[in-house]
Amino acid sequence: CMVRHYKFNVVLKNTTRMCSTKPIVTVNGRYPGPTLVAREDDTILVKVVNHVKYNVSIHWHGIRQIRTGWADGPAYITQCPIQPGQSYVYNFTVTGQRGTLWWHAHILWLRATVHGAIVILPKRDVPYPFPKPHKEEIVILGEWWKSDVEAVINEALKSGMAPNVSDAHTINGHPGPVSGCPSQGYTLPVRPGKTYMLRIINAALNEELFFKIAAHQLTVVEVDATYVKPFKTDTIVIAPGQTTNVLVTTHRGGGKYMVAASPFMDAPILVDNVTATAFIHYTGSLTSAVPTLTSTPLKNATSVATKFISALRSLNSKQYPANVPLKIDHSLLFTVGLGINPCPTCVNGSRVVASINNVTFVMPKISLLQAHFFNIGGVFTSDFPGNPPVPFNFTSTQVTNFATKQGTKLYRLAYNDTVQLVLQDTGMITPENHPIHLHGFNFFEVGRGLGNFNPETDPKNFNLVDPVERNTVGVPSGGWTAIRFRADNPGVWFMHCHLEVHTTWGLKMAFVVDNGKGPNESVLPPPSDLPKC
Ligand code: C2O
Repeated sequence: CMVRHYKFNVVLKNTTRMCSTKPIVTVNGRYPGPTLVAREDDTILVKVVNHVKYNVSIHWHGIRQIRTGWADGPAYITQCPIQPGQSYVYNFTVTGQRGTLWWHAHILWLRATVHGAIVILPKRDVPYPFPKPHKEEIVILGEWWKSDVEAVINEALKSGMAPNVSDAHTINGHPGPVSGCPSQGYTLPVRPGKTYMLRIINAALNEELFFKIAAHQLTVVEVDATYVKPFKTDTIVIAPGQTTNVLVTTHRGGGKYMVAASPFMDAPILVDNVTATAFIHYTGSLTSAVPTLTSTPLKNATSVATKFISALRSLNSKQYPANVPLKIDHSLLFTVGLGINPCPTCVNGSRVVASINNVTFVMPKISLLQAHFFNIGGVFTSDFPGNPPVPFNFTSTQVTNFATKQGTKLYRLAYNDTVQLVLQDTGMITPENHPIHLHGFNFFEVGRGLGNFNPETDPKNFNLVDPVERNTVGVPSGGWTAIRFRADNPGVWFMHCHLEVHTTWGLKMAFVVDNGKGPNESVLPPPSDLPKC
């Protein structure tokens, strides 16, 4: 295996989109940022140098970070942020993983523009479990705000209300033509009769997305860097944090075809409704060719999303088995949803908050991993509730019990414990989708349903044979999803909604996994350049 060195200079860069220019925070002046390429089992060293006025940290979303929690990146969870003028070397090994993942800033809302792809190739001489594509392309979906993104969230926090939605979605950094601003957008050149693999990443802050290419079928082969049983679809659904690899075989002919991304949100909330567009362009066709257009499903097309999500199965081959935990040590039920807390200085005298099991997570002042490793008291408590505080009908709006408790509470697991976690959306204010991301692990999505989870009947229908394995799962609006994982990675691991606004409001918690007794079952000491708070 190799050691791969990267240097990330975090710098401001004037960038023009939608006919206006603003300085944005970038890595190496690029938006989207540079791609990390490695092979399974390689070690990656990324030196991040902070040249901007904000505190910065970078997360390697989906990298398991076995025993290297110090390199995981979420600010105040596994490290103090890198302060202006400082640097930090993230040092980790990609153990037993291959596929598409991504990296992003993990502090404030900087990930709006600070993100990029991670491509992990299989070990040398190990083929893909599908025919080798002619070419591979990265497709990063995102959101663009005309105003300063930090100002958007700071204004919302001050007022206690929801932040402004973005002004456009983007495909590889470009919205395509939007009203009042003609621009080409991103174009992918293709040759006829060839198969391409698109590595699609949803880097948007706040929206699940539909993705579609006019007159071309997509064959899904991988999600979140785990292989799935291939299936064909014309539309994919992808939540913030998730990645999806698809194969696209081009026609014999030529022409130009629209690529489109638009929001999927089956809740009555504000979303940016602008469809991002790009093109695939067959070589030899005129650039002026009239493109074949397409339209994506409506934003509340739940049936399209459900059909896509239900089709996902892990490959579960001899080489890539699905090791679903069958015996469960911790059976947990977490509610995820929004609430309202008093706020005398806010516009309505109250603020929107979010919680898990009625706990609105409060960020600590030093990192939780440091507090855990060095046994520093007073930073967190280990009493995160394994079940909701009171039994209630989760999916009907209730005017009582809006208020949440605040705390920096963690749930403690012994090394190698197995966990079944049911994530139940609540309708305290309104039911909403919640893409929940767990750091440090992959999990299996063993079940999913609408309404309230029924502990008597629903587990009978769990798929314990070939459930999809991933690191970010969409909890359906007004419904639930059940995941299972094995706590075989010691450290402190963040779990949160990957809609950035919900994370900001407190829809987050962390698991602490104690060291095991074996020689390779403990957190290693921190590197000497670990940032100080
Ligand atoms: Cu992709 Cu905690 O993040």
